[in-house]
Amino acid sequence: SHQWRGIIEEYRDRLPVSDTTPVVTLREGGTPLVPAQVLSERTGCEVHLKVEGANPTGSFKDRGMTMAITKAKEEGAKAVICASTGNTSASAAAYAVRAGMVCAVLVPQGKIALGKMGQALVYGSKILQVDGNFDDCLNLARALSENYPVALVNSVNPFRIEGQKTASFEIVDALGDAPDIHVLPVGNAGNITAYWKGYKEYAADSVSTSTPRMWGFQASGSAPIVRGEIVKDPSTIATAIRIGNPASWQYALAARDESGGLIDEVTDREILRAYKLLASQEGVFVEPASAASVAGLLKAAEQGKVDPGQRIVCTVTGNGLKDPDWAVAGAPQPVTVPVDAAAAAERLGLA
Ligand code: F0G
Repeated sequence: SHQWRGIIEEYRDRLPVSDTTPVVTLREGGTPLVPAQVLSERTGCEVHLKVEGANPTGSFKDRGMTMAITKAKEEGAKAVICASTGNTSASAAAYAVRAGMVCAVLVPQGKIALGKMGQALVYGSKILQVDGNFDDCLNLARALSENYPVALVNSVNPFRIEGQKTASFEIVDALGDAPDIHVLPVGNAGNITAYWKGYKEYAADSVSTSTPRMWGFQASGSAPIVRGEIVKDPSTIATAIRIGNPASWQYALAARDESGGLIDEVTDREILRAYKLLASQEGVFVEPASAASVAGLLKAAEQGKVDPGQRIVCTVTGNGLKDPDWAVAGAPQPVTVPVDAAAAAERLGLA
């Protein structure tokens, strides 16, 4: 028996590494593909959840970051920088620790979840809160990486896409072929770009017989790709995807069009409904942005766009513990009882 070695060792022949590349890993990837019983019943399909919150820092970003930091180390970088809505920065900070590098982080002030801020802090990154949104942070990070000795590890770094494409490999390896539809939340659009690249590579090498239709969902208040124009002041409770000018916009359109897919929007209300359903009906606790994929699938099903009998994978991108405010908000305070079995039994409805 052996333990999962991380995406670079598991998919070495499909990634741009050599025998001398210094692999920086936390054994990311190898995440659960969980059958979703209630979603399957609701859609008449075979729905699976790719649970990316099970990665070492709690999001899919670790797949891209092991590659980006490995290549930065190979090239001799001493410091890395990223703009982030919180997950990229948590991941960059952790992998920088493993690589012995300095990590600089730019986040939109007041707009990242507490758990993610805690991660960047405890991993020891240098954090600046920027008086602007994610798009402003990314412009600043690009400018700094062009003018100072610091490597950019946002998904505009092609090695990030290379690492993230391995999620598609895992899904095909687990199912025996590509699904019919793959559903993702879309923010900066790196992940939908990466999944599509992975599916295409496996199909080109006949590991799979087909590629899925790629379905991406943005939050309504932050839906530039759906609207066809930059959103100057993006808003949504799903702070991870609060992005008005996605860097991989054109690649997302290509993934949609080449695959015969779609990119649509879901409201915050729909996101929260899917968020609660995932936890209370499927036992999978995700952060709000992650629920956008499932919200999108449910919306499409209600619109009659989902033919029954299809095999569908929804990626749920981040762990619910990153942003637990939404789990607690609106829920009743638990009742306090004395240390008394009869009283506890009565309150629990057991008596
Ligand atoms: N879901 C989560 C939990 C995310 O953190 C992100 C992006 C996305 C979905 C969207 O993925 O950008 O590849 O389309 N988070 C970035 C960050 C922007 O800084 O952590 P995408």
